[in-house]
Amino acid sequence: MRILAIETSCDETSVAVVENGTTVLSCVTASSMDLHAQTGGIIPENAARKQVEYIIPTLEAALTKAFPKVNAHEALAEHIDAIAVTAGPGLIGSLLVGVETAKTLTAVFNKPLIPVNHIKAHIYGAFLSDPAPQFPFVALIVSGGHTDFIYMKDHDDYDWIGGTRDDAAGECFDKCARILNLEVPRGSAVAASADKFISEHPDARLQLFPRPMIHDDNFDMSFSGLKTAVSRLVKENEKDNLYSNEQLAAELQEAIVATLVNKSGKAINAYSSASFVCCGGVSANARLRNALLALQKNELQNLSIHVPDIRYTTDNAAMIGSCAFFNPHYISYKDVAPDPELHFK
Ligand code: KG4
Ligand code: ZN
Repeated sequence: MRILAIETSCDETSVAVVENGTTVLSCVTASSMDLHAQTGGIIPENAARKQVEYIIPTLEAALTKAFPKVNAHEALAEHIDAIAVTAGPGLIGSLLVGVETAKTLTAVFNKPLIPVNHIKAHIYGAFLSDPAPQFPFVALIVSGGHTDFIYMKDHDDYDWIGGTRDDAAGECFDKCARILNLEVPRGSAVAASADKFISEHPDARLQLFPRPMIHDDNFDMSFSGLKTAVSRLVKENEKDNLYSNEQLAAELQEAIVATLVNKSGKAINAYSSASFVCCGGVSANARLRNALLALQKNELQNLSIHVPDIRYTTDNAAMIGSCAFFNPHYISYKDVAPDPELHFK
C-alpha cells in the first residue's frame, strides 16, 4: 500500500510517498527557516504564507521522485492508495495548508484520507529503519513542543507514563540559545557550539547546571528552571567573564542530555522494556544519541535502541505516512479539520 503523506504543522513543508509503512519512496521537505532566521524566530503568519508557496512544488517533487516515469497527476491517480495528513498539533495557519491540500486531493482523486497526530507520528520515524522496534517498548518523544515518555503496547495502544511539567527539552534548547545569542535554528546551533567546546576540552566535567527532577522517582521532568539558571549565569558572566559562550552551551546541552538519559533509564527499567525509541527533533542531537548508546553499553546491554535516521528526527512527512499505515483511521474528508491543540496523551 502506498500512502502520499503531507506534513505542514510548523515551518517545514514536507511531502512523502511511503510504501507499507516502512519504505520511503520519496520525502521532499522545504523549510522557511531562513526567513525565520531573519526575524529572530517563527512568525506564524509568515510560516503559513510560505506553506502556501511551497506546498504544490513540494507535492510535485515528491511524486516525480517516487514515480519518475509518469506525471504527478497520473502518479496520484494510478499509484497512490491513500492520503495522510498532519491534523495537529501545530500552528493553525500552517496546518490549514496541508489539511486543505489533502482534502482537495482526496475529493478530486477519490482516495481515502487518514488524519495523523504529529506527536504520535514522531515515534514512527523509528519504523522507517530496519529493524523496526518490537512491541512493547518505551518511547521518548523530544521535540520543540513535547517531551513525553510513552509506553507503546501496540500500534494504537499506548499509555502516557510521564513527561515535562513545563517547557519541552527542545523549547529549553531554543530559549537558552536566544539567551546565548545563538542563531536560528537554535537547537542545532547550541549543539554545534557545545560540541566545539567538548572537542577542545574532552575531559571537562560538565556540571554547572541543575539536572531537574533527576532524583524523583517518576518519569517526569522540568526544564524551565534550567532556562532561569542559564539566564542568571549569563548575566553574572557579563561581569566576571569566567565562561565562554561555547562552554555555557556545552553545560546546557549536558544538563538536558543527562536528564533525558537518566529518566529514560528509569522508564526502561520500570517497564522491563526490551526496546527503546528516542524520537523528535532533539533526537538529532549527537550528544544525546551517544549518551543513549553509552547507557546501553554500560547498564542495559540487552536493550535494543531505535533512534530515527537523522532525516526523520525533525519534522518530515515520511513519519506521517508510516504512522497512517500502521494506524489507518480513515475519515471522510468532510469531517477532517486541523486542530492546533490535538492531544496525544
Ligand atoms: O520535532 P521537531 O522538528 O518539531 C516539533 O515537533 O517541535 O523538533 C524541533 C526541536 C527544536 O526545538 C529544535 O531546536 C530541536 O528540535 N533540535 C535540536 C537539534 N536539532 C533540532 N535540539 C538539540 N540538538 C539538535 N541537534
Ligand atoms: Zn515535530
